[in-house]
Amino acid sequence: MSGINYSEKIPNNVNLSEDRTLQRALEQWQPNFINWWDDMGPEGSTDMDVYLRTAVSVDPQGWAQFGHVKMRDYRWGVFLNPGDQERQIHFGDHKGEKVWQDVPGEHRANLRRIIVTQGDTEPASVEQQRHLGLTAPSMYDLRNLFQINVEEGRHLWAMVYLLHKYFGRDGREEADALLQRNSGNEDNPRILQAFNEKTPDWLSFFMFTYFTDRDGKFQLCALAESAFDPLARTTKFMLTEEAHHMFVGESGVSRTIQRTVDVMNQLKTDDVAKLRAAGVIDLPTIQRYINFHFSVTIDLFGADESSNAATFYSSGLKGRYEEGKRADDHVLKGNTYKILAVENDKLIEKEVPMLNALNEVLRDDYIVDSKGGIERWNRVIEKAGIPFKLTAPHKAFHRNIGSLSGSKITPDGRVVTAEEWMAKVGEWLPTNEDRAYVGSLMGRVTEPGKFANWIAPPVMGINRQPVDFDYVRFN
Ligand SMILES: [Fe+2]
Ligand SMILES: [Fe+2]
Repeated sequence: MSGINYSEKIPNNVNLSEDRTLQRALEQWQPNFINWWDDMGPEGSTDMDVYLRTAVSVDPQGWAQFGHVKMRDYRWGVFLNPGDQERQIHFGDHKGEKVWQDVPGEHRANLRRIIVTQGDTEPASVEQQRHLGLTAPSMYDLRNLFQINVEEGRHLWAMVYLLHKYFGRDGREEADALLQRNSGNEDNPRILQAFNEKTPDWLSFFMFTYFTDRDGKFQLCALAESAFDPLARTTKFMLTEEAHHMFVGESGVSRTIQRTVDVMNQLKTDDVAKLRAAGVIDLPTIQRYINFHFSVTIDLFGADESSNAATFYSSGLKGRYEEGKRADDHVLKGNTYKILAVENDKLIEKEVPMLNALNEVLRDDYIVDSKGGIERWNRVIEKAGIPFKLTAPHKAFHRNIGSLSGSKITPDGRVVTAEEWMAKVGEWLPTNEDRAYVGSLMGRVTEPGKFANWIAPPVMGINRQPVDFDYVRFN
């Protein structure tokens, strides 16, 4: 079951050849996907051979095989984690019942919506990142970008498989629409706002893969608990790929900071103008990028109170992060949870039924996890002996979804007037000048082992290859 059949047109471990109708439908979707990749995938990359890993098995050990391939020839396919015959629903109203191998009629619309929303983010990020290859700070980084891009393409396949197999005609139409919406397109945008934002430079890319791919991790973890077993199994395998995306983000920011503090020590200065003249990204600018990406990403978890979230949980469609490790009754009927609200120009905590606050529960779990990396970044600064601390902004800062969206709140959690916000926002979020400066540093470095001036080399290469390995052959 865990072996992957690569002899078929669509690599898979779901015995696709036994379901001719489905196989044919997916084989018809495949050229549309390739067309989308050609149009919206990494710009100018067609001739390059990229040192990519490809899934060869879904076993925790040895699932990946590395080699130079053209991205267009990447073996995108359908890979599910092995099933467990005995698996039971372990939360919500159906707790204790057997998990579903098919979609129950009454949950069809909600499940489809969940799958489409997840599926829509996958090609969206490829579109957001399509220009970045032109300004990669090294061959190593270029390869990592492309690895993420092909895997997000595979995540799209994972969702499209579910739509085709379990949702009939509606599912096929939704699968087509996933290739028709485009990030930032005015007439036909991606579903979630963060996926319509630009990823204009590599600092944004690293922040995106640290913060926003981590949102992906938490959504996938919640779906991996689902009573709909095929969704649980496919998201479990997606999570193993997601780990690398977050590594690229965390180490990318870390290397950026490393280079900055090295230059700060060389020049013995924390003067922003001097550091910019030396071509590195000053720490206050990095803080503003964190503030931006953190706040935009936590909006992705949705409104703090949501009856949909309650329905998704109670009906077994979407669990909590690490549902199985929690000590409560997993039904949550009488439980409450604290959410934030603004009252008389002050942030207050408000107790609400936990079922309605499950978006907030997931957001809070996410926040704990994402703060971990910020602490690791601080260690780089500390080690260099520089008195500066990066922080996550307050959860209420710069929110555009939920009950806080109408208020102006500072990174340290003070409610302020619109005037004060306008006067100070340049200290809190990247300014046009910051973005223009970071943009001015971007230029393509293509020589093996060479790195742009603003970023330190990684400690190690990919798959035990040296840092100066030819990760991308430009041909
Ligand atoms: Fe993904
Ligand atoms: Fe990802």
